[in-house]
Amino acid sequence: MKRREIFAGNWKMFKTGDEAENLVKGLIKGIEAKPGREYVVFPPATVLSRVSALCGNTPLKTGAQNMFHEKQGAYTGEISPLMVKDCGATFILIGHSERRHIFHETDDDVNLKVKSALENGLEPMVCVGELLEERERGETDSVLERQVKGAFSGLAPENMVKVSIAYEPVWAIGTGRVATPEMAEEAHRVIRELLKTLFGEKTAASVPVLYGGSVKPDNISGLYAMENIDGVLVGGASLESESFLKIVNV
Ligand code: PGA
Repeated sequence: MKRREIFAGNWKMFKTGDEAENLVKGLIKGIEAKPGREYVVFPPATVLSRVSALCGNTPLKTGAQNMFHEKQGAYTGEISPLMVKDCGATFILIGHSERRHIFHETDDDVNLKVKSALENGLEPMVCVGELLEERERGETDSVLERQVKGAFSGLAPENMVKVSIAYEPVWAIGTGRVATPEMAEEAHRVIRELLKTLFGEKTAASVPVLYGGSVKPDNISGLYAMENIDGVLVGGASLESESFLKIVNV
């Protein structure tokens, strides 16, 4: 066993109530819970309560895909950490590339959300990753440095216990173009080095770093075999129980 291992599914803006219920029931039936391995789904906020209630005492946990950092207030259209918890969720996805690039979330927004999640007892899963043009310009490491430093600014090593990171190269998300295990491992090593600089050896060795971006049943084994890949964040292939179960039961 490596560090904490997390296998997660991001349903994005898919699944209405009955569809979500069917999917989660299929997952609960099929997950072969392995010791030390955690399973999380991130359904849309509209079905989060319903999915969380079905997960109950099963190995499957839930999280929201986004939240605002304030506890409550006049922020039309947003949901708060308290509301996420009230839905029965324990995780929160923060800074997904679609939030950063379609909805223009900044590293400062990500930082506020990470702090708010921790203050309110949620486990933040923070997404980082470079654009294709950034990789082609040789800027992958500096982008990761900016995103990791930005996300965790002002935090101490003890705050990192409940934090996980998902490395998701933007060019691999929803494109079918997966990073090779070696490319992913290299980026994960960079992230671990950054954590070491920021928080010391012990924290760097214990924070789970997941890979995301076109993870499928036929490429999970190679990715999971890598020393620094502690699980995966799956989009498209998490929308059907058959494909997600092949991934999580690897
Ligand atoms: P994908 O999405 O698996 O469909 O590439 C991953 C993600 O956005 O988390």
